[in-house]
Amino acid sequence: MSELTTLTAVCAEHELPDGEMLGCSLPDGTRIALYRLHGRIYATSDTCTHGEASLSDDGLFHGDEIECSWHGGRFKVATGEACASPCWEPLRTYPVTIVDGTVHVEH
Ligand code: FES
Repeated sequence: MSELTTLTAVCAEHELPDGEMLGCSLPDGTRIALYRLHGRIYATSDTCTHGEASLSDDGLFHGDEIECSWHGGRFKVATGEACASPCWEPLRTYPVTIVDGTVHVEH
């Protein structure tokens, strides 16, 4: 049995240059973080799984990882995998689709 998903337009592709991140909200108020690395766009939940830090506001890129500046925890941007203490719980990830220059997130 498959779950129904929704595709939501979150920003224009040009609003997210390579090497940048952007926070935005889904229609239900869930905050997500968008990242563009090496030309590809990824989306994860915006709130660090260790505390209440916003990764789009307080995160720093380290290669293909996002570091939470509050306590130094890290996550893989592409998979949400937690990869540095004190973060052990992964971030939720969201599939991203580009349609006519607009970034859409599946949720
Ligand atoms: Fe992110 Fe502690 S709140 S590492």
